[in-house]
Amino acid sequence: MNTPYRLLCMAVAGTGLALAAHSGRAAARDAPASGAKASVPVAAAVAGHGGDEAVKPVFSPPPESAIPDDAFGAMVREGERIFTHTRQYAGHYVGNDLDCGSCHLDAGRRADAMPLWGAWGMYPAYRRKNGHVNTFAERLQDCFMFSMNGKAPPADSGAIVALSSYAYWLAQGAPTGVKLDGAGYLDLGAPAQTPDYRRGEAVFARDCALCHGADGRGQKAAGVFVFPPLWGSGAFNWGAGLQEVNTAAGFIKANMPLSRGGTLTDQEAWDVAYFMDAHERPQDPRFTGDVAATRKQFHDNKWSLYGIEVNGHRLGSGAPGKTQSRRAAQ
Ligand code: HEC
Ligand code: HEC
Repeated sequence: MNTPYRLLCMAVAGTGLALAAHSGRAAARDAPASGAKASVPVAAAVAGHGGDEAVKPVFSPPPESAIPDDAFGAMVREGERIFTHTRQYAGHYVGNDLDCGSCHLDAGRRADAMPLWGAWGMYPAYRRKNGHVNTFAERLQDCFMFSMNGKAPPADSGAIVALSSYAYWLAQGAPTGVKLDGAGYLDLGAPAQTPDYRRGEAVFARDCALCHGADGRGQKAAGVFVFPPLWGSGAFNWGAGLQEVNTAAGFIKANMPLSRGGTLTDQEAWDVAYFMDAHERPQDPRFTGDVAATRKQFHDNKWSLYGIEVNGHRLGSGAPGKTQSRRAAQ
């Protein structure tokens, strides 16, 4: 974590409690090297595969201090650097004010925040999103194009090799083809009540605006974004996973407000996710030239608000508006 982040956390949250967020159940990042070998209950993991038993595998990635001091370790470190400081180390491929670590918390280690160790062993995989089998490299490229509103680094580029090395290293000892406990994001099931804009707005004002700004466009310290934007031109675009309300609700429920994950009720998480996703953001890069046609082709599901009219505005048809400063760190 960089210094302005810590300072602003403390200044804004008053207590610095935000930092505690990085000691979640999967966080072994700064743990001593004694635990260097990931303790992986592989047998349990494999036993749970395919069965209906509630026993789900748990996994903890090795601590950062266990990265080897050799050429491979250097590549792992490079991947971690790119992941946590994407604009700085792979800025050419980034088109917004986020880093991979803005969503994949604790440098891709945090359970229920799409941890890299939960992803590595699940590819190649068929994805409905693009209708073919995706390699891990292609999955990384996808987040560059949509969540980072940028462009995909070539599959054999240094950035993809480094990020893949980092994910592979974090997942060492994990079984392949097994969805580990804490992989991906929380599935909240169906909401008790239809998510509601006004209720979401109230949750946002109470629990989110402090950090992400009353206008949702993030906040900077010393010219660098420390609280990332949730909508507007510096945010993830209309093709990203978090623009789907169910994905956002699951992510928010587990992880937000930062350091107080799990404190919102499921309904509050649904409502605030709906509120967030009912704001303009950069256009879907797959835009066909027509919002309705683009919705039909790529957003034909009830949790995408793209092309839907909310408060008299058809989402996806408007300018996303300016952030305080676009690509401030470049
Ligand atoms: C705006 C938030 C956000 C940012 C920024 C982001 N991602 Fe993601 N990423 C997600 C979400 C949400 C998912 C899960 C989406 C889904 O499955 O529908 C995901 C999924 C993934 C997966 C697959 C996870 C799995 O379990 O299958 C990988 C790998 C990944 N992202 C890598 C990256 C990389 C590398 C970057 C930076 C270049 C990045 N992401 C930036 C939100 C983000
Ligand atoms: C204490 C400050 C704080 C509060 C309060 C907070 N967040 Fe966050 N949020 C962060 C930080 C910091 C990150 C980026 C994580 C990182 O860099 O480690 C983040 C990341 C996110 C992201 C993914 C990145 C992006 O910009 O899209 C979403 C979505 C999000 N927060 C939504 C919310 C919502 C909704 C609430 C209210 C329920 C909330 N946050 C409350 C600090 C906060």
